[in-house]
Amino acid sequence: MKSERPGVTSGIGAPAPTQPCRSPHLRGGASERERPLATTTEQAEEGTRRDFLYVATGAVGAVTVGAAVWPLINQMNPSADVLALAEIEVDIGDLAEGSQMTVKWRGKPVMIRHRTADEIQAARETPVSALKDGQSRSAQTPGAEATDENRSLMDGKYLVQMGICTHLGCVPLGEQGDYGGWFCPCHGSHYDTAGRIRKGPAPENLHIPELALDGTTLRLIETYSG
Ligand code: FES
Repeated sequence: MKSERPGVTSGIGAPAPTQPCRSPHLRGGASERERPLATTTEQAEEGTRRDFLYVATGAVGAVTVGAAVWPLINQMNPSADVLALAEIEVDIGDLAEGSQMTVKWRGKPVMIRHRTADEIQAARETPVSALKDGQSRSAQTPGAEATDENRSLMDGKYLVQMGICTHLGCVPLGEQGDYGGWFCPCHGSHYDTAGRIRKGPAPENLHIPELALDGTTLRLIETYSG
């Protein structure tokens, strides 16, 4: 926008206003002698207005920064509903054999499968040496071998794992793929019936969060950080 007076603009970073010359030795004719008083008063007012603008701008800036920072600070204090979601209980008593349910926990999908006898058998007959990732990737058995026993619950009846492909994080589809477990269509990763990576670019078995099973009540515990 064009300024009405060259060199006088409002706002931070604007060029400094031209100050009138106050030395009588350097003043020119009468017309110039009359001008300084008016210019000085005018500029004093202008300065006052400008100072106000600066102060006002600074105040608005402070409020804006305060308003922007507060949500960030506030986010660091988990709200009650976030705390409640950090640990959830799921009743899996109605989950029929051969079916799966997915619950959202801490913003991520958790797949809970009630496996069939065939699925358990296929998983248990696979030697660890045949696996791409030999680690259990379970919070219950950290660092242990990726046997089905180390990944499943209740003699293999239930398998609970994060529904996040270990390649780039897509959600794998159940009962699909070359091993009858899960298949990630994003880049073609095949997981077996124990959620272990068998083929494709995914580097690790599907992760298993920390959990506890009490009867048919499954509790997902907040310490999972994968
Ligand atoms: S994200 Fe699953 S294969 Fe790439």
